[in-house]
Amino acid sequence: MYTPEMLESIKKVEATREARMGAELRRMTADEKEKLLNEFHPDYKQEGFTTLKIGPNKGDKAPVELADILQARSWVEKLNIDLGIVDYDVDVLVIGGGGSGASAAIEAHENGANVMLVTKLRMGDANTMMAEGGIQAADKSNDSPMTHYLDAYGGGHFKAQPDLLRKLVMDGPIAIKWLEKFGVLFDKEKDGTMITTHGGGTSRKRMHAAADYSGAEIMRVLRDEVFNRKIPLVDFTAALELLLDDEGNAAGAILENMETGEHFVARAKAVIIATGGAGRMHYQGFPTSNHYGATADGLVLGYRAGAKLLYQYTLQYHPTGVAYPPQIFGALVTEKVRSVGALLVNVDGEAFMHPLETRDVSAASVIRECGVRGKGVATPSGGRGVWLDSPIIEMIHGPGTIEKRIPGMMRMFGKYDIDIRRVPMLIYPTLHYQNGGLQITVDGRTTNVKNLYVAGEAVGGIHGENRLMGNSLLDIIVFGRNAGLNASKAVEGADKPKGLNIEHVRRFMKEAEDAGIKADAVSPKLFPAYARVGR
Ligand code: FUM
Repeated sequence: MYTPEMLESIKKVEATREARMGAELRRMTADEKEKLLNEFHPDYKQEGFTTLKIGPNKGDKAPVELADILQARSWVEKLNIDLGIVDYDVDVLVIGGGGSGASAAIEAHENGANVMLVTKLRMGDANTMMAEGGIQAADKSNDSPMTHYLDAYGGGHFKAQPDLLRKLVMDGPIAIKWLEKFGVLFDKEKDGTMITTHGGGTSRKRMHAAADYSGAEIMRVLRDEVFNRKIPLVDFTAALELLLDDEGNAAGAILENMETGEHFVARAKAVIIATGGAGRMHYQGFPTSNHYGATADGLVLGYRAGAKLLYQYTLQYHPTGVAYPPQIFGALVTEKVRSVGALLVNVDGEAFMHPLETRDVSAASVIRECGVRGKGVATPSGGRGVWLDSPIIEMIHGPGTIEKRIPGMMRMFGKYDIDIRRVPMLIYPTLHYQNGGLQITVDGRTTNVKNLYVAGEAVGGIHGENRLMGNSLLDIIVFGRNAGLNASKAVEGADKPKGLNIEHVRRFMKEAEDAGIKADAVSPKLFPAYARVGR
């Protein structure tokens, strides 16, 4: 339960709640937002970044922690693996067992390819599984993909790659139908119409959800589909490095069984990187809402093989991570809580911002409130947070709404004797999403390595420099399917790759040496720094 100081602050939140009901909160102007971001958003903190010294993005800015792993040593340098002995021989190799990997594998399989999926944990251990609030798609009569495009383009600071964003929004309604066909149970009205809500920065209600377990529901169904199709799955097995063929095209990967330490050679005519995000890199010391394996592995594999990164300097800090209790520090408190009416309120019970500003603006606003404004609520560990005033939800929509619409939140806090129907939640921004990643063309292929495709959070450019809620669950489906289809089509009837090699790794290490980089770290990291695994 809450500390005495927190309970004192809650009294002020309660005393002002009635007055907040129905009050119109002003949206910030563009100038106000820009100033706020510049001063308080972590992406704008110079000390969090460095310049890449080697590789395809040499000279570009990157988070310090990402630069360290991009420019680190390779696991395979010390291994003596006979690349002539092929353990797995497939058309399409998908690396990553989350939503984009599953979608890619299903679509490649549908197209008749011999596809194999490899994942360092279990199938479904991924950020997809942890996504809560919903998936956007413009499929209501008052909406259109064009409106969806405008919302996302503006929300991403007009930096999204137009062709990628166009594909995302145009394929949105198709993605929802595809998921429904496989059995995803979206929330519906009694007459069968989809219940849709707003997210931050949306001008229409287009968030489709399965309560606040949307990602888990989607992953459940995709995982079943992979299993039903009997798509070969090699789990607890990480990709340590990509293999290229004698023409420099992607041709497979070196794999390591995480339990036995054995190594395997997987040859493939096309490779799809679907390794997800980077929350467990804990950029700038932030906690994270991400799953245990989110360590930017695909960015490292692709970068060493010559693939370019785009917007690698921009991360998403979800405005509402748990600030207290400590057991769930950094866990996601879904934006849906604000979609259904909760407000962000400071220590004195003042609502200090519109609850549905875009995420970067909301996160910066919370950081300012807790920092220079001194209006945060102290936690016993020395942190700060502001209130997400959930009890107001039932004042607006009636009793039972919280249990029905955000049961996951109710259970998560309930375990610590915090009943969010009666008391607010204490929140602070948490590292949530990697806006940048490997650059792709609209067919899902990297711009400069043939037969290398990317899908999901490892892609950069779909959302620009800030993503709107619900566009990630959409992009894993749209761009997962897209990569699976195009990779399988591209290699249809192709010969098996010849001359498998890791010359690119040797060249990269030489470049590092020439640049005077003396790295101790080895990458891909595979697990967070505090993991208790003996590798
Ligand atoms: O707040 C959320 O439920 C997160 C959704 C997302 O990142 O798309």
